[in-house]
Amino acid sequence: MCGIVGYIGNRKVINVLMNGLKRMEYRGYDSAGICVLENDDLITLKKKGKVSELESLVDESSFDSTIGIAHTRWATHGFPNDINAHPHSDNSGNISIVHNGIIENYMSLKQGLIQSGYTFKSDTDTEVLAVYIGALYEKTNDLEHAVRLALSEVVGTFGLLVLSKTEPEKIIGARRGSPMVLGVGDDEYILASDATAIIQYTKQVIYLSDNEMAIISKDGFTTKTIDNKATKNTIHEIEFNIEQLEKGGYEHFMLKEIFEQPTTIQDAFTGRLLADKGNIKLGGLSVVSEKLRNAKRIIITACGTSWHAGLVGEYMIEQLAGIPVEVEYASEFRYRNPVLYPDDVVFAISQSGETADTLAAVHEAKQKGCTVLGIVNVVGSSIARETDAGIYIHAGPEIGVASTKAFTSQLAVLSLLALYLGRMKNLSQLDGKKIAQEILQIPDKIKSIFDHSDEIRAIAKEYSSAKNFIYLGRGYNFPVALEGALKLKEISYIHAEGYPAAEMKHGPIALIDENMPVVFIATHDEIYHKIISNIEEVRARKGKVIAIANEGDTEIARVANHVIYIPETIPMLTPILSVIPLQLLAYYMALELDRTIDQPRNLAKSVTVE
Ligand code: G6P
Repeated sequence: MCGIVGYIGNRKVINVLMNGLKRMEYRGYDSAGICVLENDDLITLKKKGKVSELESLVDESSFDSTIGIAHTRWATHGFPNDINAHPHSDNSGNISIVHNGIIENYMSLKQGLIQSGYTFKSDTDTEVLAVYIGALYEKTNDLEHAVRLALSEVVGTFGLLVLSKTEPEKIIGARRGSPMVLGVGDDEYILASDATAIIQYTKQVIYLSDNEMAIISKDGFTTKTIDNKATKNTIHEIEFNIEQLEKGGYEHFMLKEIFEQPTTIQDAFTGRLLADKGNIKLGGLSVVSEKLRNAKRIIITACGTSWHAGLVGEYMIEQLAGIPVEVEYASEFRYRNPVLYPDDVVFAISQSGETADTLAAVHEAKQKGCTVLGIVNVVGSSIARETDAGIYIHAGPEIGVASTKAFTSQLAVLSLLALYLGRMKNLSQLDGKKIAQEILQIPDKIKSIFDHSDEIRAIAKEYSSAKNFIYLGRGYNFPVALEGALKLKEISYIHAEGYPAAEMKHGPIALIDENMPVVFIATHDEIYHKIISNIEEVRARKGKVIAIANEGDTEIARVANHVIYIPETIPMLTPILSVIPLQLLAYYMALELDRTIDQPRNLAKSVTVE
């Protein structure tokens, strides 16, 4: 949430900042702003709305500066308007800051500053921090010292960049709870919330740790803790390419990411699936293999779509390995004093690796002595680094705010994990081989679902005026029903509920009439006939049924208004296929309704505040 970027080097900074904001816009799009040091003065431009609004204010040719900071906002404190947009400055106008996170004690700091005669223009917590740093700078005449003093008083989270016209040769960055990456180029340095803003200039990066600062100048950089102890860092190479950040001819990132899934799934299992042996190699877990073998219980914690993946993982692991699994919303887990034992293994699932609640759940589980592992997409992210070990899903950058390819890659990795654990326990090699063979076929099966895109688009057109939707599934398809409903809500703003199909009779059936479309995920498994009965119950009440069913199913067309066919696979892998038409249905509905698909209102890709 919120993206920040700061650059110092030999390039015209305005281009670097505007590019960086565009790359990170998925982190928030309530407002955008820049501050550059031009002829010994700080020039600030900021505007409510998307980066394109700011762009219309900025005449790039009129700037020569090579040092500046920028921000794209997801509003926490104060309305999204021009005044609350970042950057914010201190009372003297000497200091400008951009901030990602929340200063929880901003009210008490603000009151103290007001009593001392300082004034405020905005409603933000960030301006309080700017004014506070300015006040401390008046006393210390040392910017770095003032920043360190201010941050030692702050309660909350921050990714912070500070620029000053009285110490114009540097940018100070600091983080606690919000991510920050330092790009190390040739005589140029860039600090940003994520590597997408950096890759155009350098692939060499340092992932700053919590409570770490970085001071960049044209001559180099230093890193230290906020309490002024030198830190050592390792330079990593960014693993993705700049082409992966482009739409590549697609109208939206979301559509591109949906269509990438055959490849991203393949990337999730390549080198890990030893199909001829029915075994799995997960290098990242080798250091904890004994812990996993002896685990009495697995707890999966996550938010949003990643939580839905966790629900599927629960079914997979219990089925193949017989280890009890609990799936917890990270936001609940962190605050309810969960009963945890040292031989519990906790998996945190997160695309971004930065979700504040999931990260806090990781800390809680570590505190209680559990082995804590990550299933993460973004390399070098906080969750990836703070867990004991883990598995990267290798889905590549996901830009569309509504998660698609990360979800199916999470499912692919969870299927590998279940098989890995199963083979450690009682699963036979023969069964392992059968499952591995099915996994290998998934990418081609996904491709064949894309052949139905036009049909799905036609269904979307027919139902785009619906005000509500219900999604129903059973067994492995129950979490898919939740995910399908979430996708529709997120990007089309149509109200949708996901339910286990059998629960329909305990409430949702009261909603069914001739205006209610009901999406049934009705693939072949041992409870297929039960779901057909549920469909009949909906039809008897005049509901409209859109069914996701297996190719060759002749029975379903008799009871459903529309059928979208997908290839058959084993039940545990079905969600990877059955979610694809639901992603497309949500996408085409949103397209019909002319929504801002990649940047749905009020949402952000990476929720770094709780
Ligand atoms: C936000 C995103 C969702 C995502 C959720 C969890 O709500 O919009 O797409 O599923 O956060 O994010 P994570 O990065 O932890 O998977």
